[in-house]
Amino acid sequence: MENIKSEVLNCRKCELWKTRKNPVVGEGSLKARIMFIGEAPGFNEDLQGRPFVGKAGKVLNELIESIGLRREDVYITNVVKCRPPENRDPTPEEIEKCSPYINRQIKIIRPEIICTLGKHSTSYIFKKFGLPHDNISRIHGKIYRVKNLFYDLLVIPLYHPAVAVYNADMKSELVEDFKIVKEEYMRLGGLDENSNTNRREKWIR
Ligand code: URA
Ligand code: SF4
Repeated sequence: MENIKSEVLNCRKCELWKTRKNPVVGEGSLKARIMFIGEAPGFNEDLQGRPFVGKAGKVLNELIESIGLRREDVYITNVVKCRPPENRDPTPEEIEKCSPYINRQIKIIRPEIICTLGKHSTSYIFKKFGLPHDNISRIHGKIYRVKNLFYDLLVIPLYHPAVAVYNADMKSELVEDFKIVKEEYMRLGGLDENSNTNRREKWIR
């Protein structure tokens, strides 16, 4: 992960390096059982070099805490590591250029659950794992199993927390979906110290 970090800090593979202040590699436990994957850094993330630290981040924190976890129990990152100007959507080319980083992060963390946040992250991850993609409004909160030679994990697509910042209905949808995430998490052993995956000890930036 340290290698990825230094590569991202020096990366100029797409145009976004020109306008970024700080790339956002991701943060959390290297032994996290759940990985949250957003789209790309926004204004505050670009300033601080940390994922989900603005308004959407506050919502994400609340949601994580609503299921009895803390940010340091999970790993949080984005598909694209540098902020697109004016928070525009990342282009397919930017996603393609940046994707080796997220792919390597997934291999290092080996999460048992990947929660995608929003439609761009969802479509990238669904494509990566060959899952049948559909509109996020139809698939959010559903559980998709990926089982092949390299991966055995669940993908749970979620709405992007930014949509819940000023919308209480979306917030309740997210709260409900997080209950599903929690159920799966608990089924896998939760934070039980004795389960093979109490993985809270390593908290890295
Ligand atoms: N939105 C994202 O998709 N990622 C962040 O890190 C912050 C906001
Ligand atoms: Fe490199 Fe990704 Fe940043 Fe583009 S967005 S410069 S590919 S780290």
